[in-house]
Amino acid sequence: MDARKIIIAVDGYSSTGKSTFARTAAAKLGYLHLDSGALYRSVTLKGMESGAVSKECIDAGKLSELLGSLDITFGKTADGEFHTFINGADSESMIRSLKVSSCVSQVAELPFVRGFVDRILQGYGAGKGIVMDGRDIGTTVFPNAELKIFMTADKRTRALRRMKEMETSGGKIPFEEILANIEQRDYIDAHRKTSPLSKAPDAIVLDNSDMTLEQEIEWLGNILKDRFGICI
Ligand code: DC
Repeated sequence: MDARKIIIAVDGYSSTGKSTFARTAAAKLGYLHLDSGALYRSVTLKGMESGAVSKECIDAGKLSELLGSLDITFGKTADGEFHTFINGADSESMIRSLKVSSCVSQVAELPFVRGFVDRILQGYGAGKGIVMDGRDIGTTVFPNAELKIFMTADKRTRALRRMKEMETSGGKIPFEEILANIEQRDYIDAHRKTSPLSKAPDAIVLDNSDMTLEQEIEWLGNILKDRFGICI
């Protein structure tokens, strides 16, 4: 491992395995990993619980007020996993539910929500040595990140991965429903006005449709070594 600390921005479509890739890379490098989607999911969950957010509409005034009372942190659980805590409560499984997934893109479109999340993310990046994944990390949150990766994969492959992931945590949702949710989120993420999902001109594309995680990490290792002299 190398002492040099850089910022690695990992952006891309839903369910391309960004978080798993980013988490594994961060562990190998001794860096901090931050899943920015977890923050949008946390805002959405609390918005739904308070009645400010529903599938039909969003009460922007009520949601904006709610943000002031939200303290979102990341911490290790007793079994060593990193979870999202909202006002001290472990909310990891709730923020990953399909219910939250079906409203999160609409919440993430709101400029005041993006401002709230960006401030938290930029605070974490101050010390470098971070792998952050999301949709606009290389374009908006850290436009000067030393390494930008844009992840993509075939839609059906992504839906299948998501279905397996949900089954592992006890949820059983039909494949077509998951696929429809992924297609809808891709569309909203790429077409919203504020910070839409797009590849930064200097990002490197990683299409992992036919790749294992080990192959992805090997791919990253080669780039880090060639460009930065960093070994993992
Ligand atoms: O990565 P994810 O599926 O957990 O992200 C949840 C939603 O949050 C996704 O639909 C888009 C949004 N998001 C975003 O707009 N910008 C980010 N940097 C990260 C996520």
